[in-house]
Amino acid sequence: MEIRVCIGSSCHLRGSYEVIEKLKKLVADNALEGKVNLAASFCLGKCGTGVTVTCDGEFWEGVTPETVEAIFAEKVLHTK
Ligand code: FES
Repeated sequence: MEIRVCIGSSCHLRGSYEVIEKLKKLVADNALEGKVNLAASFCLGKCGTGVTVTCDGEFWEGVTPETVEAIFAEKVLHTK
């Protein structure tokens, strides 16, 4: 599974760095290092609804440092 977090300027201003840090911790806490590849991405073209994240090509729009944990639980942990 590949999760890419947009670090374009609009998403950066909305907290993409913090979203990446939280995702790193969630991956480590759930022992998913071998299964989830976390990467940064340039602008994904949905700047108006960032932070934009893609997971195997599926868009997660409007992710924030506050909501990333719940989204990760729903999209990753519940589909393992
Ligand atoms: S800056 Fe993130 S989608 Fe454009």
